[in-house]
Amino acid sequence: MDILFIAAECAPYAKTGGLADVVGALPQYLRAMGHEAIVVMPRYSSINGDRYGLRWFHGPMGVWMGNTQEWCAVHTASSGGVPVYFIESQKYFDRWGLYHDANFNDYQDNPRRFGFLTRAGLQLCKDIGFKPDVVHAHDWHTALAPAYLKIWHWNDPLLGSAASLLTIHNIAYQGRYPAYHMDYLGLQWGNFTPDKFEDHGAINFLKGGIVYADMVNTVSPTYARETRTPELGYGMAPYLNAKGENYIGILNGCDYALWNPQTDPLIPARYTCDDLSGKAACKRALQQRFGLTVSPDTPVIGIVSRMVEQKGLHLLAQCIEDIVANMRVQFAILGSGEKALEHYFGELPARYPGRIGSYIGYSDELAHWIEAGSDFFLMPSLFEPCGLNQMYSLRYGTLPIVRATGGLDDTVQQYDEATGDGTGFKFYEASAHAIYYTVGWAVSTYYDRPQHMQRMIHTAMAQDFSWERSAEQYVRAYERAIQNKRGG
Ligand code: ADP
Ligand code: GLC
Repeated sequence: MDILFIAAECAPYAKTGGLADVVGALPQYLRAMGHEAIVVMPRYSSINGDRYGLRWFHGPMGVWMGNTQEWCAVHTASSGGVPVYFIESQKYFDRWGLYHDANFNDYQDNPRRFGFLTRAGLQLCKDIGFKPDVVHAHDWHTALAPAYLKIWHWNDPLLGSAASLLTIHNIAYQGRYPAYHMDYLGLQWGNFTPDKFEDHGAINFLKGGIVYADMVNTVSPTYARETRTPELGYGMAPYLNAKGENYIGILNGCDYALWNPQTDPLIPARYTCDDLSGKAACKRALQQRFGLTVSPDTPVIGIVSRMVEQKGLHLLAQCIEDIVANMRVQFAILGSGEKALEHYFGELPARYPGRIGSYIGYSDELAHWIEAGSDFFLMPSLFEPCGLNQMYSLRYGTLPIVRATGGLDDTVQQYDEATGDGTGFKFYEASAHAIYYTVGWAVSTYYDRPQHMQRMIHTAMAQDFSWERSAEQYVRAYERAIQNKRGG
């Protein structure tokens, strides 16, 4: 099968969250299964061409947006054997950030930027003679691809038979923009109806994508169920339910080539579940680096997160000071995002020296250090489509403390105090109280039931969320998309 990925992020080139990890990994596993998979993404100015060996590939390439022809160049590089094509447009991608400026203000022309990326991805196929069996779109940014295929390319020799799969990594971001963008996007006003792109007078990229895609999935079975309800569907539940069996959940894989304490080149010492001495060394190094009191016997709770409401950090802010006041525990926190949260968590180390360490910013290395050096990993998410960090944590023997939602519920097994079974600590209520008591439960287990800790660490490190299994499920989803396309 030949698969075209079009996405706004792809690791290692450009990443703000798990979307990049998925787009960076899945095509490699598809290729290992004998499929052809290529990726099209923006050439953001933050991507260092020399570092990644980017070279000019094609262009100038003309891309029709409504009645306007835009021009771009295409560069290429290879990541783990996967050809990645970068759409270069000074007008759209030569910016400080991927989606917003340094003050967290979204770029006003985001609908144009990502509509353009999507059409450029399809145009590239035509220019280079790549005939995809499936176009795999990700999130609202490229959700127009299924619609473009059916509105514009239905009769095209290369794209006419291509089926589409839309993966929803996060339904809270839908791409809602003023209706006047319809012309530029070339979506035809006949599609501006409530059953397609129209949403309370605006264009909704994700909604149109859901309607037009031959198959839709999200990134865990539980989140697939949750998004079919009004509470977590963010208005999309009726359209997802209308897809019937063509809307499914496929759990993300975990890239153990990058996240494995046995081989990880980024962490201070390597370890296995049979010999955890390296983990103790990682903990010492983490405590030093985060300004925490070096103490092998004090549990460290790690956090690596985008600092946004979804992640429940405003709830943690309501109880973290009570936690450190009443429990002998330390925190190592890494994240960036909303200014108020950055400010709050950034100031805590000065107020709780030796107890709370934080780094506001983005650092792949520190993310690995925290996974390896912490005893627990906290994710109090309000919702979590899949979540990758808890899977990384399990492999690093760092027990997750999570809210039982979406993929967190699917991947963490509740601790059983009677037997020592389980891989982490789950709570249900989205509240500061629930975080406080569940952290207390984990910390008391650390001090009072060390044999259970050992048992859980072993069970956790043996969990297997390899990409191979997820990639097989994606192939089945592609096959169904192709069938649906033919049937329709
Ligand atoms: P989301 O995509 O919602 O942010 P995931 O858990 O799926 O959540 O993926 C988050 C990814 O981004 C992980 O690989 C995590 O390590 C990484 N990450 C998030 N924030 C940071 C940061 N400040 N520094 C380094 N890595 C980060
Ligand atoms: C989104 C979700 C996260 C998921 C990631 C990759 O950013 O918030 O839960 O793991 O996409 O699918």
